[in-house]
Amino acid sequence: MFLQKLISRLRTAQHVAVLTGAGISAESGVPTFRGTDGLWKKFRPEELTNFDAFIKNPDLVWEWYKYRKQIISNIKPNPGHYALAEMEKHHEHFAIITQNVDNLHRRAGSKNVYELHGNIERNYCIDCRKEFSDVEILSSEKAPRCKCSGLIRPGVVWFGEMLPEDQWNASVAAAEQAEVFFSLGTSAVVYPAASLPMVAKHAGAYIVEINLERTDLSSTADEVLLGKSGEILPRLVETYYK
Ligand code: OAD
Repeated sequence: MFLQKLISRLRTAQHVAVLTGAGISAESGVPTFRGTDGLWKKFRPEELTNFDAFIKNPDLVWEWYKYRKQIISNIKPNPGHYALAEMEKHHEHFAIITQNVDNLHRRAGSKNVYELHGNIERNYCIDCRKEFSDVEILSSEKAPRCKCSGLIRPGVVWFGEMLPEDQWNASVAAAEQAEVFFSLGTSAVVYPAASLPMVAKHAGAYIVEINLERTDLSSTADEVLLGKSGEILPRLVETYYK
């Protein structure tokens, strides 16, 4: 099912970069960003996940994140995450650039992970920036507050906020250097993350997309593999890495 070109590229590639989105975690049971369960049904994500919404109604936004945190703490990485962790061992430079905040790549053993949209397991005070673990605050019914009285927010990137600069710069560099670039389980519509496959393409990378369906990226990808990442990636590892 894999093209000969991908095989030969992977065999010699020293630099491989992977962009992941909500689809890679779908098989773990994480609702995709545009899912239809729970609070997603009642609120447009853009209306809930921004700083103004948090200041206006911190308890509601906290309720939403508490719900997400609880789901994520109860799920496990799936074979797609583990396959990527295995691939990392076979290339000198292997970068995962994720739009997901669920921490599942690290939990699967991946080391070099750039988190473009933050990490839901982290939290910090909006005033003094002190960091808090979930254990310290998750029992709070209302939006938790720091000793300095500042509200504590999740360490994720909200609409209208800048991406963490160090993570973004490292991601662009990884895309520019990649000989093979994978776009996995992402609708590839949310910028600036969605520009990374094009950055890689212009720099000469072989672009591989894995998704349940075709996306805006498909026509420019060199290879489109339609199906579940949790099935295709383990097959790739079985075929070429073992
Ligand atoms: P989306 O929910 O937009 O897209 C998920 C993609 O995964 C879709 O294209 C699905 O077809 C595909 N998919 C679903 N299950 C899959 C599976 N098992 N295997 C392979 N593909 C599968 O999620 P993202 O592209 O990650 O931003 O969305 C990007 C950003 O949009 C999110 O990070 C979030 C949101 O705005 C922020 O929170 C800042």
